[in-house]
Amino acid sequence: MNTKDVFVSAQAVTQQREYCRLASELLIRRFGDTPRAFVHTYGCQGNVSDSERIKGMLHEMGFVFCDKPEDADLVLFNTCAVREHAETRVLGNVGALKPIKEAKNHHMIIVLCGCMMQQAHIAEKIRRSYSYVNLVFGTFAIYRFPELLYRHLRENKRIFDIKEEDEKIAEGFPVWRDRSFKAWLPIMYGCNNFCTYCIVPHVRGRERSRLPEQILAEAKELIANGAKEITLLGQNVNSYGKTPDCGMNFAQLLRKINALDGDFLIRFMTSHPKDCSDELLQTMADCEKVEHHLHLPVQSGSDRVLREMNRGYTAQEYLCLIEKAYRLMPDLAVTSDIIVGFPGEREEDFQKTLDLVHEVRFSSLFTFLYSPRQGTRAAAMSDPIGAKTKSEWFRKLCGDQEQIAAMRSKNLVDKSFCVLVEEENEGMLTGRTSENFCITFPGKKNLVGSFTNVIVTDAGNWTLSGRLAMESKNERLETENEHERYCKNP
Ligand code: 5AD
Ligand code: SF4
Repeated sequence: MNTKDVFVSAQAVTQQREYCRLASELLIRRFGDTPRAFVHTYGCQGNVSDSERIKGMLHEMGFVFCDKPEDADLVLFNTCAVREHAETRVLGNVGALKPIKEAKNHHMIIVLCGCMMQQAHIAEKIRRSYSYVNLVFGTFAIYRFPELLYRHLRENKRIFDIKEEDEKIAEGFPVWRDRSFKAWLPIMYGCNNFCTYCIVPHVRGRERSRLPEQILAEAKELIANGAKEITLLGQNVNSYGKTPDCGMNFAQLLRKINALDGDFLIRFMTSHPKDCSDELLQTMADCEKVEHHLHLPVQSGSDRVLREMNRGYTAQEYLCLIEKAYRLMPDLAVTSDIIVGFPGEREEDFQKTLDLVHEVRFSSLFTFLYSPRQGTRAAAMSDPIGAKTKSEWFRKLCGDQEQIAAMRSKNLVDKSFCVLVEEENEGMLTGRTSENFCITFPGKKNLVGSFTNVIVTDAGNWTLSGRLAMESKNERLETENEHERYCKNP
């Protein structure tokens, strides 16, 4: 596939930006000088990043952003389809908009977009049962949002756009970011893996990568604007650069970003174990700005279940990978995703998952009960195990992981870490270490967005408490030594 087939033309982007201007004229007529938008995002960081681009378009149309749907002229939900629970929540929240629209603002424009809307049966349900929703578009139509909104405003009719024809990347739209010091940077979209349980390849299309020059230009701009942490995003970042041929793989891209000037750190997600190469691990170990955190979803510890899931590796291969990674980076934090109750999973399969969890001792784990997704292969598999057993397994896994995490956390007491301070709440700051541990400690708001040294004083099940370091000369010396070990980019 050549670049022409992967990227929206510059001309089409210019045309959409012209639609922003046209829409803004109609919006002013309807809502006055400063129309207000409320944007809510469900699901993963990929969706958060899409919403930043959608907010960039809304800003260009003249919107300001508000915190409550009650105050908004336009409400937009960017939805997630990965599990049924996420979909039920979206539908509940869309239902709650009806009385708000009727009571407060019947000109309110309600927009639904994202993965859930890319499914034809969901769009049809919205068309039939949620008549007050004005505009629906799927993941492939994001770049056409200005045109769709303009058409809705001009023709005053409901618009649905969930066509699957163009899985293209659009460059050149402005991005609206809520925070300047922590940034999402998408490097690729879509997924080719078709894990049998997963809806993502169905609603996000095939893998396509952004060109390195676009990514590097955006990274430079982020750093110039104060970004201290940049997270590179993709469903499977390890297959970066294949479509179109970008002339470099993910490890090489990481080295390029690492070489940019500035005081910042790099994270990335998600890595697929089947594609996690020695070159990538070596690059992580070599690059001082790349944080020693690897999110490597294992999904199951049973080879039989992994095969049924179409994951492309065995539990043993996964363990070897982790061992290799720890050898290169002894301070590495590994996190993972696990699905409990996949169709046909048996007691002995679940036990193998538990064994793997005890062997790896993940820093943290995202655990999910299997949720059948219409159109995926797993949804058609026989699933004899009842919900009660699955819930028991789920509780057992969460309980065991909690104990593992608590034991790991206890070992961190008295250690010093360099954290990026993320937020302040009533005199308490929350910071994240390079290895992705969260530490809460007393401190002033002006530290938000900067790196600082913290000593862990207490470890609870979920959180670490600490205090600012550097309070005495001895401690400063100790901290500086520890700092070498734990903080790669002071
Ligand atoms: N049911 C439960 N969990 C799922 N995930 C993806 N699809 C499903 C599903 N149908 C989980 C996987 C994936 C994470 C993002 O969501 O563990 O890694
Ligand atoms: Fe879904 Fe598998 Fe692709 Fe991840 S790699 S998005 S789990 S299909």
